[in-house]
Amino acid sequence: MTDEAWLREVPDDRPAVVVAEGLTMYLRKEEGKRLIQRITERFPSGQLLFDVYGPLGIRLQKMVPAVRNAGATLHWGLDDPHEVETWHPGLTCLDAVRSVDMPGVEKMPASGRMSMRVMAHLPGFRNVGRILRYRF
Ligand SMILES: C[S@@+](CC[C@H](N)C(=O)[O-])C[C@H]1O[C@@H](n2cnc3c(N)ncnc32)[C@H](O)[C@@H]1O
Repeated sequence: MTDEAWLREVPDDRPAVVVAEGLTMYLRKEEGKRLIQRITERFPSGQLLFDVYGPLGIRLQKMVPAVRNAGATLHWGLDDPHEVETWHPGLTCLDAVRSVDMPGVEKMPASGRMSMRVMAHLPGFRNVGRILRYRF
């Protein structure tokens, strides 16, 4: 994704919807910023949907079993979704849904629901993960 070539193969004469799930946290902030700028500069308009970790989520990453078990290292934690708006003219945040408030949380096992409820009430913790949608 951070390679410059692949995007040139995507037609750029129409609006684009770009979805990236489980990617941004693996990137360094500068790589994520550059990727978003390359996408928003290439297409005439579109929407961008991706999930992010917050800075606390990055600090606590080894408490996430999937991250720990994969031996992965996450880098980029986004504190303020509006910061991304400054990376391209007209880039506007439409939605920022906290993971702890996601539809479907009520279907989690009781222990998961309990953790989500506790985190939703703790400043810092409530933004450990978010799903963002922008238009450009
Ligand atoms: C948690 S998984 C997300 C899987 C994805 N949602 C899917 O459906 O395939 C993270 C993925 O990000 C990829 N990844 C991390 N850094 C990357 C990079 N710089 N360029 C391309 N892929 C990257 C990893 O290889 C891994 O497949």
